[in-house]
Amino acid sequence: METGGASIATGCSGRLARAMSMIHETAEVSPGAVIGEGTLVWHHAQMREGARVGAGCILSKGVYVDRDVVVGDNVKIQNYALIYRGSTLADGVFVGPLACLANDRFPRAVTPEGERKGDEDWEVGRVTVERGASIGAAAVVLPGVRIGEWAMVGACALVARDVPEHGLVLGSPAKLAGYVCRCGRPMVEEDGVWRCPVDGEEHRPDGPESKTPGR
Ligand SMILES: CC(C)(COP(=O)(O)OP(=O)(O)OC[C@H]1O[C@@H](n2cnc3c(N)ncnc32)[C@H](O)[C@@H]1OP(=O)(O)O)[C@@H](O)C(=O)NCCC(=O)NCCS
Ligand SMILES: [Zn+2]
Repeated sequence: METGGASIATGCSGRLARAMSMIHETAEVSPGAVIGEGTLVWHHAQMREGARVGAGCILSKGVYVDRDVVVGDNVKIQNYALIYRGSTLADGVFVGPLACLANDRFPRAVTPEGERKGDEDWEVGRVTVERGASIGAAAVVLPGVRIGEWAMVGACALVARDVPEHGLVLGSPAKLAGYVCRCGRPMVEEDGVWRCPVDGEEHRPDGPESKTPGR
């Protein structure tokens, strides 16, 4: 096992879990980063100082996880996705290939005087992705946006506004196109209730949490 000097958080089954975590030899993981049990960090991925990734995650080839980013458990981040500082990903989040979570709403390389900007010259914007949500391939999420639990961002969307729980958003700028089930399938609306055609789970926007009949 190659750990690149990063801390590996371990629980009571730490010895076994340590053996299952993996940082590929070409990955660059800061000694100031932390990864959880069983997390896999693949070729040429980079994790910066202060980044914390939970247990059971997959960071695919070429993923970038910036300073102080917080990632929960069982999160899957696909190839070349860019997760910038200010981002928080809850448990079970999926980030598709080439997606970008941005953190500078009004970007400039230089000050009005033409000097290169430093950390103190701009405000870090925050992207929050709640439990179980998915972000499609090549989507861009602007700073200040919160993506609700189990929501889905379609491929190539430009997300400029918050996305509600289970919401499906598409396009540029992304618009609400419907609702998706926890299983990932788009739901079908009938009399204000959205229902999954696969497993029957129901979702009432602005109502109580989604419920699968019989569960
Ligand atoms: C959004 C999504 C879940 C919809 O899936 P679906 O219900 O099977 O969609 P359909 O193919 O039936 O398309 C329904 C409509 O939405 C449009 N559409 C589908 N995906 C779209 C997208 N990402 N952006 C904009 N429009 C989209 C279709 O063109 C179609 O429009 P129409 O009714 O005018 O013909 C899916 O297309 C998607 O983007 N998934 C993410 C895939 C991804 O990025 N995976 C990452 C890991 S590889
Ligand atoms: Zn379902």
